[in-house]
Amino acid sequence: MRLFIAVNLPKPMRDALINAQNEMYDGGVRGNFTPEENLHLTLAFIGEVPDVEPVTDALSALSFTPFELSLEGLGRFGDLWWAGMRTSPPLEALARRVRRALAEGGIPFDRKRFSPHITLIRKARGEMPEIGIREAKMTVEAVSLMRSDRGRNGMIYTELLRMEADSP
Ligand code: 2AM
Repeated sequence: MRLFIAVNLPKPMRDALINAQNEMYDGGVRGNFTPEENLHLTLAFIGEVPDVEPVTDALSALSFTPFELSLEGLGRFGDLWWAGMRTSPPLEALARRVRRALAEGGIPFDRKRFSPHITLIRKARGEMPEIGIREAKMTVEAVSLMRSDRGRNGMIYTELLRMEADSP
C-alpha cells in the first residue's frame, strides 16, 4: 500500500481552495482539479510499504502542540499548480518531527525538502490567471497517516490513523 502523512484541512480552508480552483477554471484553465475531499498538506511521502504496522509504531513517538496555519499565494511546479501554506517555525518543526519519527523507526520516505503546498490542479493547461487566494486560517490539531489508492475516477485517500496534538 502507498502511504503518506498529511494535515487534512477544515471546511473554511477547503472553501478558499475550491474558490481559487473555480476562478482558475473560469479563467480558462483546464486539467485534473483536486476534488475537495482530497485537498491536504503533505508532511512526508512514504510510498509503497508491505505493512502498515511498522509505520504506526514509528509514529507513536510523535508529539506536537496545536498551532495556526494560513494560506499564502499560488504557485506551480511545472504543470502541477498549488496553493502555498505560509511556512512558520511550528510547521517546519512538525514536518521535521514526523520525518525524524519515520527515520528512527527505519521507515524510508521521500527526503525531498519540505515545501508546504496543497495541490490544486495536476496536468494544468492554460495561463495562470491573476487571482489571489482568500484569507484562510486553521489550527493544526492532528496529523493523519493516509493511504492512497488509484480509483476508477482518480485517487482515493483514506485516513488510517489520526494523531492528535497534545494539549497546549
Ligand atoms: P503533490 O501533490 O505535490 O504531488 C500523495 O501523493 C501526496 O504525497 C501528494 O500530496 C503528493 O504531493 C505527495 N508526494 C510527495 N512526494 C511524492 C512522491 N515522490 N510521489 C508521489 N507523491 C508525493
